[in-house]
Amino acid sequence: MDDPVDLLPDDKLKGVSRRNFIKGVIAGGVAASSANYLFRASSLFGQPPGQGDRLITLNVNGQLRRVDVAKQETLAWTLRYKLGLTGTKLGCDRAECGACTVLIDDAPHYSCSILTHTVRERKVLTIEGLAKPNGTLHPVQRGVIDEQGFQCAFCMTGFIMSAVGFLKTNPNPTRLEMAHGLSGNLCRCQDYDKILTAMMRGAENMRKAQDV
Ligand code: FES
Ligand code: FES
Repeated sequence: MDDPVDLLPDDKLKGVSRRNFIKGVIAGGVAASSANYLFRASSLFGQPPGQGDRLITLNVNGQLRRVDVAKQETLAWTLRYKLGLTGTKLGCDRAECGACTVLIDDAPHYSCSILTHTVRERKVLTIEGLAKPNGTLHPVQRGVIDEQGFQCAFCMTGFIMSAVGFLKTNPNPTRLEMAHGLSGNLCRCQDYDKILTAMMRGAENMRKAQDV
């Protein structure tokens, strides 16, 4: 498979180290501009805003976001194509793979299987909201860098969000417990052992951060 860095045009690659490039992907779950996805939203969803859409307010990553949503619109769709938060991935789009996992009131959920209007008044956290405003990565994101986890990383943001949610209920899991906690997430590259090692390192990073 092509290295993602190899796919960058030469002029963009100048001054961007591989490490910083990967760090950017882990922080936002996306390396490319979201403009294309926002453009696609209007054509794919098949109806212009204002026809059947309702303006609602969502609490996403600590910000109140006003957005037009249709009654049948899923949270994954709204996040990616209306709010430009493309770190949340769409894999199966039917509650099987976990790529779309976000936290809702601190608990992991498949955003492809939740209607957006049902999460009004609730707090939604996506991968873009995990790092601190000053750019400091979340300890679980740090664990991915420490262990060089993931191959293609399509499943990465879902695993990270699931792990962050799981660690809120069990901050000191065994490897087996962590595996059970992440059992709702699938990796098409089948890189499970490495992913588990990275998530365990993330758990360790979290405990160390709380001890400081
Ligand atoms: S895209 Fe939501 S579970 Fe697969
Ligand atoms: S690393 Fe490729 S899908 Fe998980």
